[in-house]
Amino acid sequence: MQTNIDLWPIDIDSVDLERAEATLSETERSRATAITDPAAQKIFTACRGELRRVLSIYLDMTPSTIPISTTPSGKPEVGSESNVRFNVSHSEELGLIAVSLDAEIGVDVQPHDPDRPIMDIAKRFFTPREYEHLRSRSSDDSVSAFYSFWSRKEALVKAVGSSLGSSLTGLDVLGAGWIMAKLSKVGEDSTRTFGVTDLKVPEGFAGAVAIELTDSDAVADLTWRTLS
Ligand SMILES: CC(C)(COP(=O)(O)OP(=O)(O)OC[C@H]1O[C@@H](n2cnc3c(N)ncnc32)[C@H](O)[C@@H]1OP(=O)(O)O)[C@@H](O)C(=O)NCCC(=O)NCCS
Repeated sequence: MQTNIDLWPIDIDSVDLERAEATLSETERSRATAITDPAAQKIFTACRGELRRVLSIYLDMTPSTIPISTTPSGKPEVGSESNVRFNVSHSEELGLIAVSLDAEIGVDVQPHDPDRPIMDIAKRFFTPREYEHLRSRSSDDSVSAFYSFWSRKEALVKAVGSSLGSSLTGLDVLGAGWIMAKLSKVGEDSTRTFGVTDLKVPEGFAGAVAIELTDSDAVADLTWRTLS
């Protein structure tokens, strides 16, 4: 069976911040107030407000009444009785919300930073195969490949929702299309199958979405959606 993933991009600069703020819970408002960097505060308020609007469509509830809690490792969720699964990523002016039913999901967007010492980072944290792949590319190509790998790994970590039971440096995401990974949380004996794939995000960013799969042959359909 194919799982569906809905993707909701957020243009943070065009979010109605007053409306967003009005839907936040007390806890979220305190969290926003505690963020001292105005840009980071705006990103949190805009994305959480838009997340509430998106979830209201699936849950048929008004945005302000949706009970968003967080797992001990910080992954936001809507409670165990609901089958709605979601994840959020934000970077600079770009936010992205991914929603699926029943399957654990993770999403990530990363801006390309040409000044980062990508080969040093890759040598320490990527697999030898990934490192060799980056070394074989031109300098521009290696920057975009580096951020794709990074984004795929982050999306997988965020789908699992906690630290991985196995080492992150052993998580190989080299490939194209849907890439399969067997992962476990810390403390879990059994592994679960996740698929991760790149997303079409604006120039200068990398993006990826990861989802837990019950059947290793099944991949997910992606549907891009926009809030009116
Ligand atoms: C928690 C973590 C996944 C967040 O990722 P990030 O790139 O810093 O930030 P993003 O914008 O993509 O995601 C932030 C959102 O993820 C969600 N989030 C927070 N903790 C999470 C968790 N444990 N699992 C899944 N999602 C989580 C939240 O919605 C958060 O947004 P909010 O604070 O506005 O509510 C990240 O800090 C982390 O620990 N990553 C693993 C580290 C690593 O080794 N990565 C591999 C790269 S080589």
